[in-house]
Amino acid sequence: MNSIIDFQKMKKASQPISMVTCYDAWSAKILNTSDVDCILVGDSVAMVVHGEDSTINATSEMMATHVRAVRKGAPDKFIIGDMPFLSVRCGIEKAMSSVDQIMKAGANCVKIEEVDGHEEIIRHIIESGVPVMGHLGLTPQSVHQLGGYKVQGRDEQVSKEIFRKSKKLQELGAFALVLECIPLELGTIITKELKIPTIGIGAGVHTDGQVLVLQDLLGMNSQFKPHFLKTYLDGHTAFLESINLYNSEVKKRHFPTEKESYR
Ligand code: KIV
Repeated sequence: MNSIIDFQKMKKASQPISMVTCYDAWSAKILNTSDVDCILVGDSVAMVVHGEDSTINATSEMMATHVRAVRKGAPDKFIIGDMPFLSVRCGIEKAMSSVDQIMKAGANCVKIEEVDGHEEIIRHIIESGVPVMGHLGLTPQSVHQLGGYKVQGRDEQVSKEIFRKSKKLQELGAFALVLECIPLELGTIITKELKIPTIGIGAGVHTDGQVLVLQDLLGMNSQFKPHFLKTYLDGHTAFLESINLYNSEVKKRHFPTEKESYR
């Protein structure tokens, strides 16, 4: 996948789009050799890497730093860079400065949460030649407004709102849309009604693509077990056992051996 045109082609051909998050050069290097279609440098970096309680503490500088690292590790992948908290709510100058930093760091596009109230900014970013991916449903930057990390759109009114916003994002020119934690039925209807591809995380089986946080799918956090998550590795155990094995070999003077020594 090289450009936004490929997103459209894949939707037309009913080919599922795979996306994973990545925040650093070393794991980006592995992803660069993988078959995964695209990489999201999500603002979840604030939580996963920086240990913050929410994505509210992500900044443009933080996003640009991680996009730059990922681009170095994954020169061949399509990279989506997240616009951080309030970056599209403080006027066009702040928004464009954020876009500038993220794009110059190596992103191919930006992802923006929600749409109401920042339509003009989204339009301006797209007219400036920067592709925009939307993000609706559970939008973590609004965690305090939503009252927690909960499935969105279970009731009819919110469901209709998410549907309306998805249409609006398409009209504004977004090239794709992330749908996070919404009922399968809503994910299916939006995917059917929109011409642009939908990429789901906890949005059911019928979205055009799927995204997961890399550390989640690798099972690095044994305490994080949301309903939508499937882990493909017990990364926490593998990591811990390797570190403990190294530790015990050092203590027993089993490492290094002559094999790992210089003569
Ligand atoms: O920041 C992020 O990781 C995301 C995904 C959960 C879609 O936005």
